[in-house]
Amino acid sequence: MNYFLIVCSFSTIFFIFSNAASFSYPIERSGSLIQRLLKSGKYSEFLKSRNELKTGSQPFIDFYDDYYILKVDVGTPAQSFRLSLDTASSFLWVLDINCISKDCHGASNHGQKSTYNFSDSSTFIEGAGIFVAQFDGQSISGYLGKETVSFGGLTLKNQDFGSAQLLPQLYVEQPIDGVIGFGFPAMAVNGTRTPLDGLMPMLDQQMFSVWMDRKIVTSRGGPGGLVTFGAMDTVNCFADVNWVPLTVKSYWGFDLDGFKIGSYERTKKEKVISDTGSGWIGAPPTVISAIVKATGAKYDWNLELYVVPCSTMKTQPDIKLTINGIEYTIPSVEYILDLLLDNGQCALTFFGFGATGFGPTWVLGDTFIRSYCHFYDYGNMRIGLAKAHHSY
Ligand SMILES: *[C@@H]1O[C@H](CO)[C@@H](O)[C@H](O)[C@H]1NC(C)=O
Ligand SMILES: *[C@@H]1O[C@H](CO)[C@@H](O)[C@H](O)[C@H]1NC(C)=O
Repeated sequence: MNYFLIVCSFSTIFFIFSNAASFSYPIERSGSLIQRLLKSGKYSEFLKSRNELKTGSQPFIDFYDDYYILKVDVGTPAQSFRLSLDTASSFLWVLDINCISKDCHGASNHGQKSTYNFSDSSTFIEGAGIFVAQFDGQSISGYLGKETVSFGGLTLKNQDFGSAQLLPQLYVEQPIDGVIGFGFPAMAVNGTRTPLDGLMPMLDQQMFSVWMDRKIVTSRGGPGGLVTFGAMDTVNCFADVNWVPLTVKSYWGFDLDGFKIGSYERTKKEKVISDTGSGWIGAPPTVISAIVKATGAKYDWNLELYVVPCSTMKTQPDIKLTINGIEYTIPSVEYILDLLLDNGQCALTFFGFGATGFGPTWVLGDTFIRSYCHFYDYGNMRIGLAKAHHSY
């Protein structure tokens, strides 16, 4: 009798304890930027500014079409923000109330943006000065500080962050108030303590899981999935997990061993970065050509996008990626996107990626992450991949 009671109370304690150190939190989807820009007639202006950027020092320009958003509270009392959940940067920044760029405060399709006012917070601690970070391939800057930051039931005290006062053009079109970067300390901005540094010691397991739902993307977005801090999401992800060791310790990077579409096959070991902040997949130019050939895609010079008839969305060849000896399939329904273009055309969600030197040659963004749950296991320096549950 006694023995039973002891066992019982131990398991109760264990249960409460393990529950306290993991939290699941819904993420939202921002919806397609391209759709919004096409609707508002600003797409050509956007292309123009992006093309000007391409001639600058940036090695590539991502599309940043669609974000997954985490609601984050900063300060005391809490000021609430919609932040892009990003595994490819390592800094938390929010829009400052005294932002001086013309696009900061404008109302986007999603209403007024939230801005941070340090004078309204009793927990703000002044930082070392100015930060400079990258966003959409452009510089953003503002002042550094420390704050109480809460999301998904977790509270980080004295978390380094930035309040941004200078932002890129057309930022107003993005329905976000900043970014929360869960990238590695090696990519910290201005030597700050990163969100991962603050978060990991608080968790039962030093990991977070990302499940991205597959829903028709509209310009307005909607529910987007679930992020689980400190545990694996066993509800939305299949139990069969393949663990992939990180081969670069400075970002969420691993090796891709092969790529296939139709009759095209590439077996070359290449570095990839897993990037929740990238809506699409960045691949080397030869791979893009192969995808274009296999899908019969045409380049639309006005839109600067590769398009295929939407009627082929479910019947195009699968893409197969080989990672750590296992083949991963991305069905065409995932890599072809309906942006409500004219003439029943749909877009291919790939962009040419031309990183040089030590950087990755592939960016595996949401197109891949939606197909496979990602378990970002910081404690063991690996990423777990498991098939994601979807209604279609
Ligand atoms: C920031 O908050 C302080 C204190 O509430 C207030 O006096 C100030 O006007 C606010 N700043 C702006 C730009 O609204
Ligand atoms: C942060 O780095 C930028 C250059 O990347 C520099 O201009 C700025 O002064 C730095 N800020 C601090 C506080 O060191």
